This record gives sequence, C-alpha cells and structure tokens, in this order.
Amino acid sequence: MAPHAVVVAGAGQAGLETAAALRARGYTGRVTLVGDEPPGPCHRPPLSKGYLTGAVPAEDVPLRPASFYAEQDVELLTGTTVVSVDRERHTVLLESGLRLPYGALVLATGCRPRPLPVPGASLHGVRTLRGLADAEVLRRALQGPPLRLVVVGAGFVGLEVAATARGLGHEVTVVETQPRALTRALTPAVSERIVAEHRAQGVRVLTGRQVAVLHGDDRERVRAVELADGERIGADLVVVGIGVLPNTEPARAAGLAVDDGVLVDAGLRTADPDVWAVGDCASFPEPRTGRRMRLESVQNATDQARCVAAAICGEPHPYTAVPRFWTEQYALRVQMAGLTSGHDETVTVGDVAGGRFSVLCFREGRLIGVESVNRPADHGITARLLAAGTALSPAAAREPGFDLKKLPRAPHSPTASPAPTVPTAPTSPTAPTSPTASPSGSRSEERLSVHA
Ligand code: NAI
Repeated sequence: MAPHAVVVAGAGQAGLETAAALRARGYTGRVTLVGDEPPGPCHRPPLSKGYLTGAVPAEDVPLRPASFYAEQDVELLTGTTVVSVDRERHTVLLESGLRLPYGALVLATGCRPRPLPVPGASLHGVRTLRGLADAEVLRRALQGPPLRLVVVGAGFVGLEVAATARGLGHEVTVVETQPRALTRALTPAVSERIVAEHRAQGVRVLTGRQVAVLHGDDRERVRAVELADGERIGADLVVVGIGVLPNTEPARAAGLAVDDGVLVDAGLRTADPDVWAVGDCASFPEPRTGRRMRLESVQNATDQARCVAAAICGEPHPYTAVPRFWTEQYALRVQMAGLTSGHDETVTVGDVAGGRFSVLCFREGRLIGVESVNRPADHGITARLLAAGTALSPAAAREPGFDLKKLPRAPHSPTASPAPTVPTAPTSPTAPTSPTASPSGSRSEERLSVHA
C-alpha cells in the first residue's frame, strides 16, 4: 500500500522530479518538497552559461511554473532544510521548527561546492557557483566592464564559466592542479579539444599548477592569485569550481550509512525501507561496473527520481539507466553516454581536425562509454547501444567504412542484457534520434560527472 505522505528533502532537480513523478503515477497522498534555495527548483545548466550572458532570462530558470505546485498539490517549503529525522516516529524536523510526518522519505539533498583550502579564500570577489543566488552575483559582475577573472579548477563549472566570461570580453585565466583539464569525466582527446578551443579564444589555461594564496586590498577585496611557484595573477574576480561535496547531514543525523554520499541499494533504498536517496547525494551500486558511485547530472537526478517514485507506488525495480551528460563551451557541444573512466582501449571516429568526432571507450573488448564532440547523432545511437547492452567490439569499430548510423537499431531497454551482437559489416541503415540541442539546457538534456 502506498504511504500516506511523502517528504522530499531537497528541492533541486531530483527532488522536484520525485514529486512530479509521484503525481504522474497517480499517487494521491500528501507530497511535501523541502528546500533551502528560496526560488524553489531551478534548471542549473544555464546558470554557468546562458543565465550569465542574459540569453536565458530569470523567468526561464525555474524548473516548473508556480502554478505547477498548486495544480499538482505539491507543498513546496523553501528557505528551510530538514535538520533531523526521527525514523521511529516517521517525522522530520525542519530548520523552521516545523515537524512533518512521513510514510516515505526521499533524500534529494544534492551537493555543495568544495571550498578552496588556501588563505584568502574568503575575500570579497571570491565566488563559487551552485544555485541561482550565486549565478546572480556572477551575472552582475560579468555583465559589467571588463574584469580580470581567475577560474580555479578546470572542471565543468570552471570551463563553462571561463567560456562564458571570455565570450563577454573578460580576461580569463584558468588554474588547474591536475596535468590536464576535466580529468575526472573525460578522455584526454576530448579534454584537449576543449582546452585547445579555450586557448584559441584567448583564455590562459594553466594545468599542473597550484593556487597557494589569494591576496586582497585594504578593503578585503581580492586583487591577485598567487600560485605555488610564485607567479602572481592579477584578479578582480575569482570563481572557484573545484568539485562538490554531498549534503549528507540529514542522513547522518538519521543514523543512516554515509560514505561520500548516502548509501543506497540497487533500488535506491537506504537500510531503512521507508527512506530513499536520489540524485547527486546518492551513492548507489552502478549496475554495469559493479562499483558504488555518485553521479552528478540532470539525467541521473531525473531517472533516479522516477525509479524511486515507482518504488513508493509499489513498483520497485533496480536503477539501470545509462548515464548521460553534456557540456557546451563556445561552439563545442560535448556529450557523453555511459561511463568512460576505466577504459583500456579507445577508437575515435569522425573528423578530429574538424572538431566533429566521437571517442568510443572499451574495457576488455566491451563498449562502456562514448564521448562525442559536435556529433549529437553518435551520442543518441551509442546511448541506445549501451542501454541495450549491444556488443560492439573495437575491431568492428575500426573496420573501414564503419558507421554508427548503420548499426542495427538497438531496442530501448532499461537493462543491460541480453546482449545482441553487432556484426562487423554494417547492415541496414537506421534513422537515429538524438536528444535535442538547447543552449539553455532543456529537461531533455543531460549533464553528468562521476565520483567513483
Ligand atoms: P569538477 O569535479 O567537474 O571539476 C573540478 C576540477 O577542479 C577538477 O578538474 C579538479 O582537478 C580541479 N581541482 C580540484 N582542486 C583544485 C585546486 N585546489 N586548484 C585547482 N583545481 C582544482 O567539479 P566542478 O567543475 O566544480 O563542478 C561541480 C558540479 O557541477 C559537478 O557536479 C558538475 O558535474 C556540475 N556541473 C556540471 C556541468 C555539466 O555537466 N555541463 C556544468 C557545470 C557544473
């Protein structure tokens, strides 16, 4: 029997999608969505891109119009958080002092930016970017006169902000500790292509370099970034994008197991049968790799929310969606399907020099993930191949005349098996569909990064 009330802790993409999916499934109990970000659930993808330039107006940022909550009878409580959970009594206590009963509790608490651990990190003009309020501060700064911007971290936040700021005419330097950008999520070929574009656009990208200290003026405003090797880079604004930390406090307070995320099983349930976790904060056993991981992406938030809503409505099933994400920087559209980390062989198809190519990543002869640069059709096809568990060998992908579009259309399947075999010789052509492109990052889009 479905529970009488569902409390969703966290009003980001995963939280909102949980509430929406419950109603879409006909759940009639009370649904309360609790979040600390005052405007309520927002699209995050435009916050590092179109929202900063003004291309995406503020009214396009909310995930749902205000009318959605009344129409769907979803109680949205913003400006507050779940501070404790009484699992015996089935209640949560909010920071506001309100106590809510639940039959099912969904933790969708997301992540927060990792702080930069150097002196000067709290100076004025040193910012992180996660929510709309952060983006609003950056938008105002970047829409003003030219600035010297230093971005710390060449990950998704850092490089998207760098591209946006450069497009607005600011002087931009990116400082990254690792020997290359986007180490965590992308193969060298794709990250090098992205960095080459940044350099071509006039961004100074420094890899393998450490920030040692941030210097301010007598008004505590940042003025320079000093690197460990002594170089000083003048700065009017510093954006720190060095990763995120999962918000696990409510789970910890509830006595639930936490280890870089809230630990859940294959159906996204914690050890308490009435408590689930979804989205960026959930550490789950990934079915294809067998490894426990967190995925930080719109696709993961949305699909996990749907999986948990089904379970609450009495239709539990394991979470098996193929991870997908995208990033846009300048005219580069990079998409990833599957998980490419841990590959032992790659095959590149397409036109690398012309900037339209895909890197097919294999482990032990099996396709595990594909990164595509300005090849959206490849992304759509390979996501379906991965979902169907289709066997594509590196040898087949290297055959002269190999064309992803000519592979047999793989049926969409939520499971990784059975695995039909793809013949070496291309057979009948297919008419693949692919996720539609939208500079603002629509809900059909995905973004992801991986914490294994
Ligand atoms: P990230 O993990 O993608 O990148 C962080 C980068 O900072 C890494 O390259 C890391 O090596 C580097 N780093 C770590 N410590 C450093 C230090 N002290 N100095 C210099 N570099 C350092 O995390 P990021 O970019 O902060 O993104 C945060 C979240 O936002 C993630 O969940 C990400 O997936 C999400 N996001 C995703 C986007 C997309 O998929 N298109 C766009 C924007 C954000």
